Amino acid sequence: MKFSTRAIHVGQEADTATGATIVPIYQTSTYTQSAVGEHKGFDYSRSVNPTRSALEKQLASLEDARFCSAFSSGMAATSAVLNLLSAGDHVVVGDDLYGGTYRLFSKVLIRYGISFTYVDMSDLAAVRGALEPSTKLIWVETPTNPLLGLADIAAIAALRPSGSCLAVDNTFASPYFQSPLALGADIVVHSTTKYIGGHSDAIGGAAITNDPDLAEEIKFHQNAVGGVPGPFDAWLTMRGAKTLAIRMREHERNAHKVAEFLTTRDDVAKVIYPGLASHPQHELARRQMRGFGGMVSFELRGDGARAFAFAKETSLFSLAESLGGVESLIGIPARMTHGSIPAAERERRGITDSLVRLSVGIEDVEDLIDDLRTALDVSAAPVRR
Ligand SMILES: Cc1ncc(COP(=O)(O)O)c(C=O)c1O
Repeated sequence: MKFSTRAIHVGQEADTATGATIVPIYQTSTYTQSAVGEHKGFDYSRSVNPTRSALEKQLASLEDARFCSAFSSGMAATSAVLNLLSAGDHVVVGDDLYGGTYRLFSKVLIRYGISFTYVDMSDLAAVRGALEPSTKLIWVETPTNPLLGLADIAAIAALRPSGSCLAVDNTFASPYFQSPLALGADIVVHSTTKYIGGHSDAIGGAAITNDPDLAEEIKFHQNAVGGVPGPFDAWLTMRGAKTLAIRMREHERNAHKVAEFLTTRDDVAKVIYPGLASHPQHELARRQMRGFGGMVSFELRGDGARAFAFAKETSLFSLAESLGGVESLIGIPARMTHGSIPAAERERRGITDSLVRLSVGIEDVEDLIDDLRTALDVSAAPVRR
């Protein structure tokens, strides 16, 4: 079956109890047993829930994978993957990544004796140089949040030492545009809060793999730690994911046009979009991805005050954290999504106060461009300092 057919059908057979065409929201914490230990495969909803199971089958199929564990957030999914490690283990991780992931690694996991080396994932020699005998995990985000840098998944997979895993956070590309497992990754992680859910109405995450041993360990931690989504959030995520393909095509079409518009503006110093030939890894994006996604970042000329004024002036682009919903969002990563990264470290990575991140929605693109044009013009004069 092709992508959209899988999105709409896998895990979503008619309900065996009632014939309900749509998977019911099994809003139950427990299940009545006919005798001690005799039940229908469901005993307690932290361990297993039919609505969540349906979502897990659907998401596994979207990554062409065998196993998926769904979580209450992208961070819970990330945490479950890091739970595979023990004190003394080492992780190589990209130096441009979601601020919350950086916070989990640098403020929480480091206290448990796990060490991290941050490298530029586009530099394979740097990745190779960062590997240590104790390296058990390489953590890749591609495209990165917020600088939209790319990592060559197949090349990094080829570098990983035996006994270590490559995990890819595929949130930005979504399974519609990128298949890390097919490129050699061991685990894919998603914040399903973003494109997969697609409507900014549910927080969720997923860890997906083809490896039965990894799947079993992740499932063990899902139950042992307990960061599971409730049935209603699982259901909302599943409903959103049915339309992932058509939404991603629209996101990309609009993002491309928005990126091209921004390149025509004198007050924009730099536009970052993997679909533009000017992106330093445009060729890799063409090779590794089936589309360039819906995220566009750009550097406004002037100081942060100008960027803040601009972000306040848009009306269709809501000034908000998050991304990947049908509605367009605008953010200043340095002060919002990436505020948990120390200022000096942000500056070093190029996450300045003038960097603007757009999650381009699927509204009519002419309206989106008008909104950006007006906000740029209004915020240009006088430049507020
Ligand atoms: C790339 C990426 N990974 C993971 C996360 C964390 O996901 P959640 O907010 O669902 O916990 C985010 C959130 O913005 C993200 O952008």
